[in-house]
Amino acid sequence: MNLRDHIRDVPNFPKEGIVYFDITPLLADPSAFQYTIDMMAERFSDYKADKIAAAEARGFIFGAPLAYKLGIGFVPIRKPGKLPYKTVSVDYDLEYGTDSLSMHIDAVDKGEDILLIDDVLATGGTAEGMVKLVEKAGGNVSGIGFLVELGFLKGREKLAGVSTQNLLQL
Ligand code: PRP
Repeated sequence: MNLRDHIRDVPNFPKEGIVYFDITPLLADPSAFQYTIDMMAERFSDYKADKIAAAEARGFIFGAPLAYKLGIGFVPIRKPGKLPYKTVSVDYDLEYGTDSLSMHIDAVDKGEDILLIDDVLATGGTAEGMVKLVEKAGGNVSGIGFLVELGFLKGREKLAGVSTQNLLQL
């Protein structure tokens, strides 16, 4: 199956000059969605993982079913003000400006191996923020798996020292 055929290019969203890679056709097609999760399980299970962590919203769509399939726990990483218990937080770079990611303070145990999952690696700001967050909580990021890597944005350069894999490189 060619996953590229299930991703729609939407020009000028969310801003003029940006092409948005829309994964909703892939999600709506049961065989493409199942294939994606199965491939993630096959390719990313080289990474030792006690848990999967992923950031809202699109990271949840792939991270949670993969955790279910691998039989490990899932940790939601959220935008500020969403988690009810004590949190650990980091600021991360957006293309213009910064934002913040939070996780419950007891979501990751000291020394636990965490596999990070996201749909897209673009500038790398989000993934870099997730790595910092897990490390701040005492966890170890064993690897990061993406559905799509937008190689031309060079996000991987922000992730030096962390092993990353993708199912599709654009
Ligand atoms: C998107 C995507 C990644 C991130 C990649 O999330 O799901 O998490 O951007 O971009 P980066 O590599 O430049 O950081 P977004 O922040 O748009 O939120 P969403 O998942 O709620 O749509």
